[in-house]
Amino acid sequence: MKRGKLITLEGGEGVGKSTNLLFITRWLEQRGVGFVQTREPGGTPLAEQLRELLLSRRKEQVDPTAELLMVFAARAQHLAEVIQPALTRGEWVICDRFTDATYAYQGGGRGLDGVLIGQLEQMVQGELRPDKVLLLDLDPQVGLKRAAGTGAADRFESEQIAFFERVRAAYRARAAAAPERYTIIDASASLESIQHQLQCELERLLLEA
Ligand code: TMP
Repeated sequence: MKRGKLITLEGGEGVGKSTNLLFITRWLEQRGVGFVQTREPGGTPLAEQLRELLLSRRKEQVDPTAELLMVFAARAQHLAEVIQPALTRGEWVICDRFTDATYAYQGGGRGLDGVLIGQLEQMVQGELRPDKVLLLDLDPQVGLKRAAGTGAADRFESEQIAFFERVRAAYRARAAAAPERYTIIDASASLESIQHQLQCELERLLLEA
C-alpha cells in the first residue's frame, strides 16, 4: 500500500482556512480520494484538551517554552493516533495547521529559536514532513478584522498586530526557503481565484500519487 499524502493548510488569523478546507475536502470526495480531515492543535481527545489549555486566556503569563512543548505534546499524540495510521492505510491527511504554525507562532511570534523547534520536530516526527503546505497569505490587519466577527478572541487572537506581522513573515520565509513544498496563495484574492489555485495544486498532487 502506497503511503498517503500529508497536506497542511496554514496562514494567520482570518485568512479563510475553514472555507477553503471545505472546498478541498469536497474536491477530494468528488475524486474518490480516501482522506482524513483533522486539525492542530487537536485531532484526538488528549490533543483537543491541550488545545483548550493553549487557547484559553488566563491571568498567568504562559511561558513560551511551555507553550512550545504543549504544542509538540499534542502533535505527538495526534501523529500516533491519527496521522501516521491514516498515511499507512494509504489515505491522505488534510490537516488544518501543522508544524509550520509552530515555526510561525512560537518561532516568529514568540521569538523562540528555530533550531530548537527543529530539534523537537525531529524528535516528534522523525522524517515526516508535509508533502504540500498550502499557505494562505494575508495582511494581518485585514485578517484580524475578518476574524473579529467570529466570536471572542482566544489567547493567540488577543496578541498585538506586531506579533501577527512576525507570524506572517516567518511563514513567508519558510515558503521561500522550500518553494517546491509550499504554495503561497494570496488570500485577499477572490474566492474563485483562490479555489482555482487550490484545485490546480490538488490535481498535481493526485497525478503524483
Ligand atoms: P485555529 O485552529 O483557529 O487557527 O487556532 C489555532 C491557534 O493555535 C492559532 O492561533 C495558531 C496557534 N498555533 C500555534 O501557536 N502553534 C502551533 O503549532 C499550532 C498548530 C497552532
